[in-house]
Amino acid sequence: MYNFNLKSSIYEFRVLSDFVDHFQLSPYDTVFTERFLYEKYFKGKLNCNFIFQDDYGLGEPSDIVIDKILIDIKDKPINRIIGIGGGSILDIAKLLSIKDATSTEDIFEENIPLVRDKGLILIPTTCGTGCEVTCVSVVDISRKNTKIGKRIEANFADSAVLIEELLDSIPERVFLYSSVDALIHAMEIYVAQTGNPYNDVFCESAIKIILSNYKKLVKDGIETRFEYMNEFLRASTFAGIALSNTACGAVHAFAMHFGSVHHVAHGESNARFLTEVFKKYAQISPNGKLEDLSKIINNALEIDTDLQGSFLALEELIDYLIPKKRLREYGVKEEDIEPYVDKVIETQQRLLKNNFVPLSRKELIDIYKGVY
Ligand SMILES: [Fe+2]
Repeated sequence: MYNFNLKSSIYEFRVLSDFVDHFQLSPYDTVFTERFLYEKYFKGKLNCNFIFQDDYGLGEPSDIVIDKILIDIKDKPINRIIGIGGGSILDIAKLLSIKDATSTEDIFEENIPLVRDKGLILIPTTCGTGCEVTCVSVVDISRKNTKIGKRIEANFADSAVLIEELLDSIPERVFLYSSVDALIHAMEIYVAQTGNPYNDVFCESAIKIILSNYKKLVKDGIETRFEYMNEFLRASTFAGIALSNTACGAVHAFAMHFGSVHHVAHGESNARFLTEVFKKYAQISPNGKLEDLSKIINNALEIDTDLQGSFLALEELIDYLIPKKRLREYGVKEEDIEPYVDKVIETQQRLLKNNFVPLSRKELIDIYKGVY
């Protein structure tokens, strides 16, 4: 049985003014964003209300921050919530659109019906999370001292809107870590045992776009990334569409735990585990979807090599753009490896079950040692 859903309407605009013309904003619309984006792009240009995440505290947003915002917007006449920003902004915007919500706990524990009474428009300003087309919100739950992802079926946006202009000054690091996250979504889901042929189309296309443009960046310089930004943005949404149907695998499982313990951003954490996980797959079972994936990689990079060769070429490419950093440099100790792997096994089964092949505890430890 296969099931594939695409619930949001997707729009692409080159500039913000085209979005404004099409969506006809009013004072009943509330944009949730960050101040620096407002100053750069929206000031005096959008006829609507604004809420700024930074007014509620800096750093990674937690349930405490979200609760304060929920209380502030309660009883305000809001027709549509428009989230504009990176992944966490979009994830919070989803929660703000829920009817009668006054706390994150009520939402996450389902103490209230999870229905929306507001329209929801999501506009990414990075090119990786795919959050604009998923219904999951990942929130740092302070009481539990960990990040938790909650899938809320009502929270697929009515419209996911890609506006190239909003990425016209994306910093190099943000660009690299977000686009590699999108690449990993596409690669993990493409080989996932729980994948489906409908996902494959979006994954294959995302991988091709990202890798072929990475190759150009290696040749012409990272500063030329803006020439291809609409393609990276689209690839990220393609991968997000797959992600809204199937979860990721071992790379994300490792990264979720490592990132949360060592406070390393999502894309950066993922980048550290990418090639080691796929090299392990290649060792264990160099065939099936992995072979298909290596052909996609060869095609995108215009190389002619065997499966091991294509994963090696991928590693060289990623290492060039995002130089390797060992986990020990982030503070991981050798004696941490086994307990960390046990914690990943304990808490990330939702992701590990999508692995291309089942990975034993020993194999997971080998991968960890490989990046340590
Ligand atoms: Fe991700």
